Amino acid sequence: FNTIDDLDLDGKVVLVRVDVNVPVENGQVTDATRIEKIVPTVKDIQAKGGIPVLLAHFDRPKGKRVDSMSLKIVLPALEAALGQPVKFAEEAIGGPAKRVVADLKPGDVALLENTRFYPGEEENDATFAASLAALGQAYVNDAFSAAHRAHASTEGLARLLPAAAGRLMEAELKALDAALGNPQRPVVAVVGGAKVSTKLDLLGNLIEKVDHLVIGGGMANTFLVAQGVEVGKSLAERDMADTAREILAKAEKTGCKIHLPTDVVVAREFKAGAASETVAADACPPDAMILDAGPTTVAHIREVFESSRTLIWNGPLGAFEIPPFDAATNAAAQEAARLTREGKLISVAGGGDTVAALNKAGVSADFTFISTAGGAFLEWMEGKELPGVAALRKS
Ligand code: 3PG
Repeated sequence: FNTIDDLDLDGKVVLVRVDVNVPVENGQVTDATRIEKIVPTVKDIQAKGGIPVLLAHFDRPKGKRVDSMSLKIVLPALEAALGQPVKFAEEAIGGPAKRVVADLKPGDVALLENTRFYPGEEENDATFAASLAALGQAYVNDAFSAAHRAHASTEGLARLLPAAAGRLMEAELKALDAALGNPQRPVVAVVGGAKVSTKLDLLGNLIEKVDHLVIGGGMANTFLVAQGVEVGKSLAERDMADTAREILAKAEKTGCKIHLPTDVVVAREFKAGAASETVAADACPPDAMILDAGPTTVAHIREVFESSRTLIWNGPLGAFEIPPFDAATNAAAQEAARLTREGKLISVAGGGDTVAALNKAGVSADFTFISTAGGAFLEWMEGKELPGVAALRKS
């Protein structure tokens, strides 16, 4: 696909799909990472003489105006990140949008109101897409994290204007290709999180592509149950035991080695400072629950990391929100960070919880790449083609 370097942008209004769907509390952006990551794209378009007009969604207003979901909320953080004022259009299409765009001069940047205020956005409606397209002469998609949605601003527009990938989109795709597309082997995947049922496609795809699969979190309990182990009061999907056994059998055929916890940290209550103990994975007391992987398991994970060249990580190994049940996640993350710093490992991570856990472990800066994507990262790990990326390839 094209990048910004391939398009003639001089004097053109460039519609740039970005993802500024950031966490907000009491009207304040609490994590501006996604906003900061789009700065290179905006600056490079300006350097080529283009005038960026940013298109984005915020939250899920379901096709109508919801004042609390106005993109105005991100303006201060966006202006701070770009170091310049941003003109705001109260509508994404029509007169108000046209007037704001018509007043723009080289060097300016504008943001249009939430595209999801219009039903045509999620319906990928051709008329709505044409109304957006009428505002500019080129389209750049920098929203990898929204590329799993086939919406007018993520997919339809790429068919109506000369289109290219923005810098963040390029970086995401390159990192993901290095992790699963054409990786240096051996590849280890760490998959954690609460439920097997939400990650079936992901596990199915990974066992065909990676050499080692480390399973952690609540999911690991379901696999233990599948092996006939009693897990007491642990979170586990007992009705998924057959499916878990199928995954184990298939992994054996594909030559993917699955690593489950051999020791676990258990407690009677899930709260900060709860009394906990480490027991063998098959010795969880009937009135206790598994909340983390134990030190022997962590030592084993370290060895797997050391013997690997590429790591792809989605999901924490334990109930990382509450210490001490973040210990396994932190220790494994620190080992991955060390190996990456020493040039021995390519490490890529993504997904909301995962990024939060790595931030908490203080290792995000050491990873080769941390994706800004949640749902899109998962769909990509499932081996699915993302409509926003596919549209760029075709255009
Ligand atoms: C995200 O936050 O993962 C993206 O912005 C997509 O949001 P959505 O799940 O509401 O489509």
